Amino acid sequence: MKTAPRVGGEGNCRPCHAPHYLERGPCTSCHRGDPGAARQKLAHQRLISGRAAENGLPNGPAVVEGRERVESLACRRCHLVGGAGNRLATNLDHVVWKRDQGALARSIGEPVVNMPRFGLDVSQTEAVIAFLLRSAQPELAEATYRVRFAHRDGLTRSIFDVRCGGCHRALLADGPAGRGSAGPNLSGLFTREYPATAQGNRPWTPAQLKSWLQNPRALRPQTTMRPLRLEESEWHRLLEELGAAGPSARPVAP
Ligand code: HEC
Ligand code: HEC
Ligand code: HEC
Ligand code: HEC
Repeated sequence: MKTAPRVGGEGNCRPCHAPHYLERGPCTSCHRGDPGAARQKLAHQRLISGRAAENGLPNGPAVVEGRERVESLACRRCHLVGGAGNRLATNLDHVVWKRDQGALARSIGEPVVNMPRFGLDVSQTEAVIAFLLRSAQPELAEATYRVRFAHRDGLTRSIFDVRCGGCHRALLADGPAGRGSAGPNLSGLFTREYPATAQGNRPWTPAQLKSWLQNPRALRPQTTMRPLRLEESEWHRLLEELGAAGPSARPVAP
């Protein structure tokens, strides 16, 4: 026997749960899940729970905290979040509504080699996820998006790989480079999304980088990075590699 079609996104959530936030819309707008399913396991499919469910509260504490973390940890030096950022890694707007909450938490907690490890706890991670969900339109989940790196011929290693890669990693326009973790991940160094860690808490420019490489201690007395001499040609290739950070990259004066 067919049951009457269920209207809205509450369906079978209501018989099992005391409702809340009724004025904010259907349960599924914050929790996802399948409102048409009567059994708990099915109804909870791809459920958003805990602080991540605050994605439906524009100024909820989780969304506010998540926004601050995404900014201070500079996720946008690699990812597009809420339409802003570099396109060096997956566009998070396109994937957050598609993934299970557990999968998102694992991607952040146990990141791939080219993504920094941020050491967030469960509650902090849920806040970040709340903000990511808030920033992305659920409709975007239908769009497909793949990161495409321009093709390097496989024979020429990037200059970044050769000269910086022992201590740093970076996503360059033509793919990931470097293998070291002694220094920070330099993805998107010359874009506004990279933390302003150059001298005087300013953004990194080629000029800032040049004096840094010549004498890191002049800028940071305690630093463990040693001076590094590059040939003129190496320097120009390095700038080219670091500069190509996708459409949102801010052009920098030499
Ligand atoms: C058949 C009953 C049943 C249905 C249908 C059901 N739930 Fe639940 N739900 C439960 C029970 C029981 C728990 C607590 C035990 C648990 O966590 O598994 C729970 C827990 C939850 C939690 C807390 C989970 C957590 O990890 O803290 C959320 C959020 C939730 N449900 C949302 C929903 C939404 C949204 C729907 C509709 C799409 C729904 N539930 C449908 C029975 C149900
Ligand atoms: C505006 C967003 C929003 C809407 C709409 C919403 N919820 Fe929630 N819900 C939350 C948040 C946020 C929490 C998490 C509270 C916490 O754990 O800090 C939550 C928690 C829950 C929990 C776990 C409660 C607990 O004690 O751990 C259940 C169950 C739940 N919601 C069911 C529902 C059902 C059923 C509906 C639809 C009638 C619904 N929610 C609508 C945001 C929402
Ligand atoms: C240095 C670059 C970089 C930074 C910074 C970075 N990520 Fe990533 N992230 C990656 C890469 C590389 C992947 C693997 C998938 C890909 O190639 O895009 C990834 C994957 C992910 C995924 C899984 C995407 C999917 O397809 O399921 C999530 C979620 C994610 N990152 C969240 C974050 C968050 C949140 C931050 C900030 C706290 C962050 N990332 C910062 C590089 C980065
Ligand atoms: C032998 C290891 C090593 C090599 C090789 C190296 N670096 Fe570093 N680099 C470091 C370390 C360690 C730090 C962190 C220093 C600190 O925090 O004060 C660092 C920091 C930096 C910073 C500052 C970033 C920030 O946000 O604080 C920049 C920029 C940088 N390196 C660029 C480069 C470039 C470009 C190359 C290649 C031309 C390179 N480095 C080669 C070890 C290295």
